[in-house]
Amino acid sequence: MAVERIINTGISNDDQQEQELEVTLRPHDFANYIGQSRLKQNLQLAIAAAKKRGDPLDHILLYGPPGLGKTTMASVIANEMGAQIRITSGPVIERAGDLASLLTNLSDGDILFIDEIHRLNRTIEEVLYSAMEDFKLDIMLGKGPSARSLRLDLPKFTLIGATTRTGNLAAPLLDRFGMIHRLEFYKPEEIRQIIERAASILQVRIAGDAADELSRRSRLTPRIANRLLKRVRDYADVNGDGIIDTVVSGQALQLLEVDELGLDPADRMLLLAIIDSYKGGPVGVETLAALTAEERSTIEDFYEPYLMQIGLLERTPRGRKVTPKAYQHLGRVTRDEPEQTNLV
Ligand SMILES: Nc1ncnc2c1ncn2[C@@H]1O[C@H](COP(=O)(O)OP(=O)(O)OP(=O)(O)O)[C@@H](O)[C@H]1O
Ligand SMILES: [Mg+2]
Repeated sequence: MAVERIINTGISNDDQQEQELEVTLRPHDFANYIGQSRLKQNLQLAIAAAKKRGDPLDHILLYGPPGLGKTTMASVIANEMGAQIRITSGPVIERAGDLASLLTNLSDGDILFIDEIHRLNRTIEEVLYSAMEDFKLDIMLGKGPSARSLRLDLPKFTLIGATTRTGNLAAPLLDRFGMIHRLEFYKPEEIRQIIERAASILQVRIAGDAADELSRRSRLTPRIANRLLKRVRDYADVNGDGIIDTVVSGQALQLLEVDELGLDPADRMLLLAIIDSYKGGPVGVETLAALTAEERSTIEDFYEPYLMQIGLLERTPRGRKVTPKAYQHLGRVTRDEPEQTNLV
């Protein structure tokens, strides 16, 4: 990541405090998992049916922008199933043998959660095909003409995969998920509830409309809502009596340079670059990556989903375009709107 961003939707692995915060605030059951109601209904039904039949749950793929609660949902599912969950991630599984040992160590009904499943390498991905479909593991013994393959029975496990992008998954892998669900951005009202829940767990007093104000600036994303709450709490502790009201939250957010739509300087720079250097677009994503010194995947996974969600950016076949709403928000005049008009 080029810049340390408060609204950065990822978590930095070396940030111990941040990880602890996530663990403390993570809901453990459907009742405390706010929002995503359609996803919850679907899952609750599937879980009830699986339990009634005594079967393991179908394999589930959760996808959507970072920080919307995929990992959290995986642990909620395990908890609601009364199942054990083993957590790993695509880049961590380096060899087929790593996956084989994970799989053979599972028990019937266990859940294997693979985060960033789009980053599994293809040969390892192929091991998953028969594991997911038939609960069999094919392993090759020996090399050359004397090589033979061995089929092992695996426990009846459930795979939950999480990814920010389904486009990078091979079709045969996608086909083997019984349920594929997209996590949506939250409604501001749901984010407000998440903030209030977090405030009560952290024993922070949040007064008046401050929770609303924070929720409007949290990019409709729980991880950012929790992070803003924590930063604003720090500000309130240092500069006031620890109570978060609209004055305190306004000052803290100004200091953090998070604006009314939840944009930070990096977002504004991206939009302004398209406006000022490319007349509003369309402009290719590679160019945007160069302009902002970010990876293409960072632009696609972190910046764009939210900017598109709130209608500041559009994806067209010829590239990215900013919308009139973006011009307005950034105080720029649109191309086809004359700067001054003498007509009354
Ligand atoms: N529905 C929710 N209700 C309350 N809190 C939530 C909800 N979803 C997420 N959170 C909070 O947001 C934090 C981030 O969620 P989570 O780690 O599950 O996101 P993620 O989608 O897995 O992100 P990534 O793609 O970066 O792995 C959690 O620690 C949790 O506290
Ligand atoms: Mg996650």
